[in-house]
Amino acid sequence: MTFGPLHGEAGRVDVAAAAGGYPVVVGSGLLDEIPRVADAVAPGRRLAVISDSTVLPLHGARVAEGLRAAGREVATFDFPAGEASKTRRSWSVLTDRMLEAGFGRDSCVVAVGGGVTTDLAGFVAATFLRGVPVLQVPTSTLAMIDASVGGKTGVDVRAGKNLVGAFHPPAAVVADVQTLETLPRSERAQGLVEAVKHGAILDERHFDTVGARLEAVLAGDAEASADVVLASVRLKAGVVARDEFEGGLRQILNFGHTVGHALEAASAYALGHGSAVAAGMLAESRIGERMGVTAQGTTERLASVLRRVVGDVEPSGTAESARSYLSSDKKARGGQARYVLLERIGKAAGEGGWSHSVPDPLVDDVLASLYFRP
Ligand SMILES: NC(=O)c1ccc[n+]([C@@H]2O[C@H](COP(=O)([O-])OP(=O)(O)OC[C@H]3O[C@@H](n4cnc5c(N)ncnc54)[C@H](O)[C@@H]3O)[C@@H](O)[C@H]2O)c1
Ligand SMILES: [Zn+2]
Repeated sequence: MTFGPLHGEAGRVDVAAAAGGYPVVVGSGLLDEIPRVADAVAPGRRLAVISDSTVLPLHGARVAEGLRAAGREVATFDFPAGEASKTRRSWSVLTDRMLEAGFGRDSCVVAVGGGVTTDLAGFVAATFLRGVPVLQVPTSTLAMIDASVGGKTGVDVRAGKNLVGAFHPPAAVVADVQTLETLPRSERAQGLVEAVKHGAILDERHFDTVGARLEAVLAGDAEASADVVLASVRLKAGVVARDEFEGGLRQILNFGHTVGHALEAASAYALGHGSAVAAGMLAESRIGERMGVTAQGTTERLASVLRRVVGDVEPSGTAESARSYLSSDKKARGGQARYVLLERIGKAAGEGGWSHSVPDPLVDDVLASLYFRP
């Protein structure tokens, strides 16, 4: 299921997966190459292009047109843009509509959009007639750097985000950085936080590269975006290849996310995921420094980059509600709130055990200071 170099390709990463590896191709102008990719990875299949209501007119329709012009049988399906659509309800509407349109086992889903589309359309593909292939075409920085790589799909439920889903690795991922031109600058910033995270846990050089090129990426520059996306995908793919089903190493990708998720929830999701994770990384780095696990000065270095990505992070909500969210999260995980800590920039702390328990008073103290002085 491979294909030769695409026109506009900047590079590709082959991701290993138990069910068969897949290429992640990054470049500029790649949407025009989707028919070639679909012929290689989904020959003869009927194609269900799934996009949200914002991305469909901007990019999804063009992908569908290109496929149609290449002689493929295509239908488009959309859903209202936003995290609020990542639900079982949207999943049931989309699968019903595909069945009504006569899609069968010979289908392939083409998911064109941000991380919500990646996860929702991926989950549709994972479950439709017990599973059909999905071609991921991420159009947000976050979806390119993070969501489309690793095969996790799913929906949010009342008890929490991403709690119902499946591992369903894509047949291929095509990340066209030209699509980022229409993405709002603030959304580019939210996604870039995950690139900073990849550098912080795995690769100091990448951390410095992101720092050096972030203004260009925030401005939508195609070359800088392709470089940063490609390097970040390579790092995430390396982790996923070694621990596809999150038994160990893959946990390091949660750096900043234990506190970040609590801040997101405490703000009733007014705080963007990237901003919450940025504040979460600062908090967890500070915790590590105070425990003597993380090199002194690490938090300052993180802050100097993150400030330029998302600005001064002012978590809304209160330290109190973040704390109460952390303790309910802890209950949900059988009394274990776990934290990924850094040894230094470029290296997560731990060998084998990648998550650490932290004394409650220390967490409380750091959380409180976060609210008073971000
Ligand atoms: N599966 C995973 O491993 C994984 C990893 C990280 C995040 N996620 C998930 O990703 C989701 C967040 O992703 P997101 O931030 O991309 O959200 P999103 O898909 O909602 O996109 C953000 C906004 O940008 C718009 N948009 C997307 N691409 C655009 C473009 N090119 N031009 C103009 N507008 C565009 C969307 O319509 C939306 O309004 C969360 O649900 C999160 O759980 C999944
Ligand atoms: Zn994240």
